[in-house]
Amino acid sequence: MTDQTATPRSFSASVPLKGRIAIPGDKSISHRSLMLSALAVGESRVTGLLEGHDVLATAAAMRAMGATIERQDDGEWRIHGVGVGGLLQPREALDMGNSGTSTRLLMGLVASHPITTTFVGDASLSGRPMGRVIDPLSQMGADISASPGDRLPLMVRGLAPAIPLSYRLPMASAQVKSAVLLAGLNTPGITEVIEPVPTRDHSERMLKGFGADLTVELGADGTRYIRIRGEAELKPQTITVPGDPSSAAFFIVAALLVPGSDVTIANVGLNPTRAGLVEVLQQMGGDIELLDAREVGGEPVADLRVRHSALKGIAVDPAIVPSMVDEFPILFIAAALAEGRTVTTGLDELRVKESDRIAVMAAGLKAIGARVEETEDGLIIDGTGGAPLPGGATIAGHLDHRICMSFAVAGLASKAPVTIDDIAPVATSFPNFEQLLAGLQQ
Ligand code: S3P
Repeated sequence: MTDQTATPRSFSASVPLKGRIAIPGDKSISHRSLMLSALAVGESRVTGLLEGHDVLATAAAMRAMGATIERQDDGEWRIHGVGVGGLLQPREALDMGNSGTSTRLLMGLVASHPITTTFVGDASLSGRPMGRVIDPLSQMGADISASPGDRLPLMVRGLAPAIPLSYRLPMASAQVKSAVLLAGLNTPGITEVIEPVPTRDHSERMLKGFGADLTVELGADGTRYIRIRGEAELKPQTITVPGDPSSAAFFIVAALLVPGSDVTIANVGLNPTRAGLVEVLQQMGGDIELLDAREVGGEPVADLRVRHSALKGIAVDPAIVPSMVDEFPILFIAAALAEGRTVTTGLDELRVKESDRIAVMAAGLKAIGARVEETEDGLIIDGTGGAPLPGGATIAGHLDHRICMSFAVAGLASKAPVTIDDIAPVATSFPNFEQLLAGLQQ
């Protein structure tokens, strides 16, 4: 079946990428900025907010539940919150579009409010598992009815007061952790999340920043015990959102792969729970220099200078996976042009992202002439040693922004153009991706 509304786009062998770019704000931090500001009492101000479709879905949902959220002409966002416990019942279903983060975190928020909320989403989101949040939120007292397979559309009937929970995460997921902590915000007593494998910690940092009583205790084996005291009062904040390392990733790899490139990417968030890709690419021989390391909005940030490099394949340590969980699609492209073999394991979670990123990347890489073998939990890739890939294929993006951008970058280092069947999903996380790329090709 052909999608009449799809917008195909081709990417071809590129001239050297040169210059300096600033990437848009961090998606995870942008979602949380809106949610927490919408629960604070008073006016919060946010600059650098990512204005991609996913974050705009969160903004629309928080408005539908009573917050006032306005964008100023200078790009600053002002949010008047309703106070913890003050969310109103939305009149219509909340349309989450493509956004798993909006869905899972908001399910957590509404689970401990006395409101009933329906969540709907696009075809990709409607295929993703929600059981992972339904389980703990049901234990806290929410009544959730989902479509078969614990999918969207689903309805959450919140309970107030909810029942505090101590929950051990069965998988490494910041979304599940955050859903439980956000439900805990309006729950009497202490809600605890036990996290055996650390994942991105933006929720913990930001909840503390907004004045919630949240502690993190580190066990001898590295397990994190995160406790939040509920019925908190959040104080409004002024937030500067750092640039998204997951968006920077596409330009880091593009600059490494295209001969003659020298690119500086400004203001890249380098929270240790997000910075795995830079470390892995450096291990592969990538010339990535960290300049002007500083703090922005309570997060470590630096400018990255990236120059074309000859990369070598490696075995990626599965322990690093959570700190680069969204970056594997673009790492696979880098591996396809490296010298020798790259082996990745422990990537089970990639199968339940916006698409099955192991299968979709394997199919796309084969289509453009890369040598790749799919395993249960990863890919094994034998690189070209720097020679361009054959290219010359159309890639199915499966409504997955990171698949689309990864193959766009592959096109820049291929003999024949690589066509993405529909470029539209890129706007979920990186609306000016093509514009920034064109600027570096001048
Ligand atoms: C996110 C957590 C990760 C990540 C997603 C954003 C977040 O998902 O893939 O893009 O903001 O908490 P999981 O929790 O499913 O790993």
